[in-house]
Amino acid sequence: MRDKQVKTRIVSGKPSVDDVSLDTNLRPRRLSDFIGQEKVKSNIEIAIAAAQKRGEPLDHVLLYGPPGLGKTTLAHIIAAEMGVNIRISSGPAIERPGDLASILTNLQKNDGFFIDEIHRLGRPVEEILYPAMEDFAIDIILGKGPGARTLRLNLPHFTLIGATTRFAMMSPPLRDRFGAVYRLDFYDEPAIRAILKRSSSILNIDIDEAGISQVACRARGTPRVANRLLKRVRDYAQVMADGVINESVAVEALAKLEIDRIGLDEIDHKVIRTIIEKFDGGPVGLETIAASISEEADTIMDVYEPYLLQLGFLERTPRGRMATRLACEHLGVSHKKGHSSQASLW
Ligand SMILES: Nc1ncnc2c1ncn2[C@@H]1O[C@H](COP(=O)(O)OP(=O)(O)OP(=O)(O)O)[C@@H](O)[C@H]1O
Ligand SMILES: [Mg+2]
Repeated sequence: MRDKQVKTRIVSGKPSVDDVSLDTNLRPRRLSDFIGQEKVKSNIEIAIAAAQKRGEPLDHVLLYGPPGLGKTTLAHIIAAEMGVNIRISSGPAIERPGDLASILTNLQKNDGFFIDEIHRLGRPVEEILYPAMEDFAIDIILGKGPGARTLRLNLPHFTLIGATTRFAMMSPPLRDRFGAVYRLDFYDEPAIRAILKRSSSILNIDIDEAGISQVACRARGTPRVANRLLKRVRDYAQVMADGVINESVAVEALAKLEIDRIGLDEIDHKVIRTIIEKFDGGPVGLETIAASISEEADTIMDVYEPYLLQLGFLERTPRGRMATRLACEHLGVSHKKGHSSQASLW
């Protein structure tokens, strides 16, 4: 149910079924193709160069940030730049400690091991990971009861690359075992424009600067959303305008998708309106907002809230979420259950 809602939402940072082929075509393969996130990129560059100079595997790396910003892409890039193989799994896929033990014991020296959604690893599985990360060893328990013995099994040196949208949900002992922790932030407009240009040239899309601007300002600072919008605008242009995307074609296409001029859709509007109109601007708990608009609290937290916080439309307080004056101005409502001033949103 929850996945279905996320999948049908065009400005969601989460991947949709359609994105799969798009992602493989457009995903940058090397650090030099990876646009934006300059700080993270240069730190990774230095860490890789240093590890290679010492002839050692890279320290374990944790990448975190909202969906669609390039965590999986960077994990692959790190392995490519190190010239090593990467083994891929995810928190929910590794159900039992034995599953993890078998992956770990099959790794080759220097391999990268990518665990996506690492915050979803179960505790018993996580406990196998501690000595594996720290000492490159796992402890296997032989037998049961008082006669049980532990056997320490050495592992090849490997680099764990973890990714998560929920840094706060990771246990501190797991977080602490990463040598490098990088936070990905929403991209600024020049970076999103550069990504759109790169994607247009790979996909052979004819789009002018003004068309790029229209897509870029609605992309929520998220490469996955930018690429998805570009693809939908291309569809519209092919059917309605000989395939060429200029400003007016882009605006018409994007208006049809019901995304406003800063990338918010109906559900974002609903979240803000609910806080303003039903709860006097807040503070109101996330669970209460979720119940009022029939969405999952987790989905609001992962998918809608980060961008609204970034825009300064929402504030998190100890007593709950508050809608800000900026949000009211954008929606054209006054702060206390007021009347709409009918600003044009689309
Ligand atoms: N810096 C970038 N430059 C160009 N394209 C990018 C960049 N970052 C991401 N992309 C594009 O966005 C898509 C989504 O990125 P990616 O899958 O790495 O996000 P993610 O952070 O792993 O998301 P999730 O949290 O959903 O797993 C990629 O397929 C790629 O096409
Ligand atoms: Mg990913």
